[in-house]
Amino acid sequence: MSLKKTIMDESYWSRIRESFLLDPNEIYFNTGSFGSLPRSVFESMQEVLHHIEKNPTRHRGQQQTEVTNARKTLAAFLNASAEDIAFASNVTMAINMVVLGLDWQSGDEILASDQEYGAIDNCLHLAETRFGIVVKRARIPIPPTGPEEVLDAFEAEFTPKTKLVLCSHITTRTGLINPLDKLVDLAHKHGALIAFDGAHAPGMIPLDLQASGCDFYGGNCHKWLCAPKGTGFLFAKPDVQDRMRHVVASWGYSQEGPSLGDKGELLINGQPFMWGLENWGTRDQACFIAVANAVDFQENIGKDQILARGRQLADHLRQKMSQTGWANLLTPSCEEMSGSISAFELLGFQNTDLYDTYKITVPFGRWEDKDSHWMRVSTHICNGFEQIDILIEALTELRGKN
Ligand SMILES: Cc1ncc(COP(=O)(O)O)c(C=O)c1O
Repeated sequence: MSLKKTIMDESYWSRIRESFLLDPNEIYFNTGSFGSLPRSVFESMQEVLHHIEKNPTRHRGQQQTEVTNARKTLAAFLNASAEDIAFASNVTMAINMVVLGLDWQSGDEILASDQEYGAIDNCLHLAETRFGIVVKRARIPIPPTGPEEVLDAFEAEFTPKTKLVLCSHITTRTGLINPLDKLVDLAHKHGALIAFDGAHAPGMIPLDLQASGCDFYGGNCHKWLCAPKGTGFLFAKPDVQDRMRHVVASWGYSQEGPSLGDKGELLINGQPFMWGLENWGTRDQACFIAVANAVDFQENIGKDQILARGRQLADHLRQKMSQTGWANLLTPSCEEMSGSISAFELLGFQNTDLYDTYKITVPFGRWEDKDSHWMRVSTHICNGFEQIDILIEALTELRGKN
């Protein structure tokens, strides 16, 4: 069956939607904050939890093997080597591991965009106040018309002191897909390392971390990959792993320091160095084991088809919103910079609470400096065309009541 045909087949997508645990009487457009679990992922995690609780001591070793297998499955999905991946509870933790784990000299600079997530800005602030470094900002237009505008915004802010570039792969507020490969080249041209905040990419767009050449990539599994909450990862290229210090020292730390394996690979206590970084003491294993089930669920559909479906729904939404006269698209229109997040500036709204009356979950905010609101709509494989039509009808009605 051709890709196009499968994408157009609504009965197929209805079945996919039904496999999610989402309340069928509600509409959920917030995968960008929290993904919902497919039933199969939830049930497999429940089984593991149940098994663990039969004897939390004796079953731990076996579950640890399952966590290692899940890491391999996730790594294959990301086109990375399992040895270069540490599980983390979320991307916030992954980025903290990089920013607070690197060695800094006073006056060093981190170059970030002006569209980073608030919690990551907090991490950068902590690094500034603690290490005496300076965080500079590349000002990316909203929306940029093409990748060159993003690259120019970064290029303008490099100095010889720039040691690290930090950039969202897909931005939180507007869903802009930044040009990963070109940013890697730019950072390396200036002799800087580059770390990506990949909160939104895994499960929305196909990734090839090895080919990208990026130094660090933190990601979430609990958004678009629809894995359990509290699952994320940090990827680090082999030649930069020894630049990171442990942010939390537990059994993954060695007082003798790291060693080299037969092939020159970095080890800690005889294990891949990255696996030591993820050891933060006792934690739940079931959620990480279930990441493998979430990957299987998506692989059965196909990464390209998931992205194409998200875009197909987003196109429908954007087209309808453009006809209202009260919505400005904040997400780029060019395909390479835009996926399954669509953000809008909404004009003339007083009230934006769609949940009470319409049972629609979609995030809104008020622009701090404007008399308008923003709305971010995530269109994923758990959504459908008629839900988008209902959203627009509801918005129109709500605006009329102002
Ligand atoms: C770009 C970006 N980075 C980081 C985060 C934080 O994710 P988490 O709370 O899972 O660490 C988010 C959450 O929405 C985000 O959008």
